[in-house]
Amino acid sequence: MTQTLRLGIAGLGTVGASVLRMVARRAEALEAATGRTIAVTAVSARDRGRDRGVDLSGLHWFDDPVDLARSGEIDVFVELVGGSDGAAKQAVEAALGAGKHVVTANKALLAHHGAALARMAEEHGVALAYEASVAGGIPVIKAIREGLSGNAISRVYGILNGTCNYILSRMEAEGLTFEACLKDAQALGYAEADPTFDVEGFDTAHKLAILTSLAFGVEIDAEGVSVEGISAIQPLDLTMADELGYRIKLLGVAQQTAAGIEQRVHPTMVPKASAIAQVMGVTNAVTVDADAVGELTLIGPGAGGAATASAVVADITDVALGLARPTFGQPVPRLASPRRVEMQRHEGGYYIRLTVHDRTGVAAGVATRMAEANISIESIVQRRSAKAASSDPQGLSGQPVPLVLITYAATEGNVREALAAIDRDGLLAEAPQLIRIERE
Ligand SMILES: NC(=O)c1ccc[n+]([C@@H]2O[C@H](COP(=O)([O-])OP(=O)(O)OC[C@H]3O[C@@H](n4cnc5c(N)ncnc54)[C@H](OP(=O)(O)O)[C@@H]3O)[C@@H](O)[C@H]2O)c1
Repeated sequence: MTQTLRLGIAGLGTVGASVLRMVARRAEALEAATGRTIAVTAVSARDRGRDRGVDLSGLHWFDDPVDLARSGEIDVFVELVGGSDGAAKQAVEAALGAGKHVVTANKALLAHHGAALARMAEEHGVALAYEASVAGGIPVIKAIREGLSGNAISRVYGILNGTCNYILSRMEAEGLTFEACLKDAQALGYAEADPTFDVEGFDTAHKLAILTSLAFGVEIDAEGVSVEGISAIQPLDLTMADELGYRIKLLGVAQQTAAGIEQRVHPTMVPKASAIAQVMGVTNAVTVDADAVGELTLIGPGAGGAATASAVVADITDVALGLARPTFGQPVPRLASPRRVEMQRHEGGYYIRLTVHDRTGVAAGVATRMAEANISIESIVQRRSAKAASSDPQGLSGQPVPLVLITYAATEGNVREALAAIDRDGLLAEAPQLIRIERE
C-alpha cells in the first residue's frame, strides 16, 4: 500500500463540510478503488468556534487558507471558499506554486483566472481539478473532456443555475410573478439574500465560459459572454410560450459558427418536447451536440452539499490514482484564442412581445417594419381583453394590448433595427420583450 493522500480543505461551509463527511463515510471504498488511504489532515475556515456538524478533532486548523495551501502536511489543497479573487485565488496560487494538487468547486475563480492557474499547474506538474464547478453533481467536465474526446462539438448549452430554473418553473406552473417566486426561493434557501449573481445570469456565464473552453479547445473568455437574466420575464411570456409550444429556460449557449464562437446567456424558448424543456425546479442539465454521438443530454443536481461533494471526491479519487488530464483538455499553450461573435450577429428565431396601442393598422405597421428589416414572421398573435373587444369592437381606443410575434431565423441586428423603427413610428406603449428561440 502506497502513502496516504493527505487532503487540506479550505472552506467548511455547505460543500466543505459535506466533503469531510463523504471522505470519512467512503474511506474504505475510496481505498479499494485507489489503493491509497485518503484522509483529511488539515482544514481552514474563518470561524473556528462554529459548529459545522462534523468532527474536526485531530485535524490541524489553519486560520489562513494560504498557510494551509503551503503546508507540508498536505498533498492536495481542496478549495471550497469561493469568490473569484481574495483568499481563494491567493490560496490556490500558493498551493500550485508549492507543487500541491488543487481540487476546487469555484467557477468564478476559473472563469476569471482559469488559463493562468492551469498554466501554473502545468509548470509545476500538478492537477487543477474542477468537476464541481459546473452543474454540481453532474460529471459534465469529464463527459466533455474525456468521454467525448473523439467528437467535434458544435454546440453546448444548458440549464446551469438551479435558482433561475426553480423560479421559471414556479412562474410557469402557478402563473406567479418573478418577484413572488424569488421571495419563495430565498425562503427555501435556493437563492441568496442578494440574488443578482444568479438571476441576472452571471453565475451561468461563469459556468458557460468553462464549458466553452473545454468543448472548443479555446482559452476561457468570460468577458466574451453576452449576459441577460430572467428578472424581466413576465407571467404573460410563460403563458404565450406554453400556447406556442415552448417553455422558457435560462440557458447558457456556446456555439461554433462560421464567424467564431457565440457565448450567450439569456432566457430562451425551447420546444416543449425537447429533453431540456423537461428539466424543472432546481435541477441542472447540459446538452452537447457532437458529430459522432449526436445529441447528448446530462441531467442532475446542480447544487447542494452532497451532490457537489460527489464531484469534489471524484476529482480527489483521480488525483489519488495519478490521473491528470490537461486542465482544459489540452495544454494551455495549445488552446486557441477564441474568436468572439457579437450578439448582433446571432441568427435564430425570436419571440417578440410588443405592447402596442390598440388602433387599427398597428399590426400591419409592425409587419411592414419587420419585412423592411428582412424578417419573416412565422406567427402573429394579437391579444385583446374580452372587455376591450366588447366595448371597443373596432379597436379605436388606443389602449395598450400585447402583440406577439414569432420570427423565422433572423439576425439580432435586424430584429433590433425593426424594433427601433416600430418605436420611432410611435406604435409602442412599453419597451418590447425579446426572447431568443433555441431549436434542436
Ligand atoms: N453550495 C453549492 O451547492 C455549490 C455548488 C457548486 C459549487 N459551489 C462552490 O463551492 C464553493 C463553496 O461554496 P459553499 O456553498 O460551500 O460556500 P459557503 O457555505 O459560504 O462556505 C464558504 C466557506 O469558506 C469559508 N471562508 C470564507 N472566506 C474565508 C477566508 N477568507 N478564509 C478562510 N475561510 C473562508 C467560510 O468560513 P466560515 O464557515 O468560518 O464562515 C465557509 O466555511 C464556492 O466556490 C461555490 O461557488 C457550491
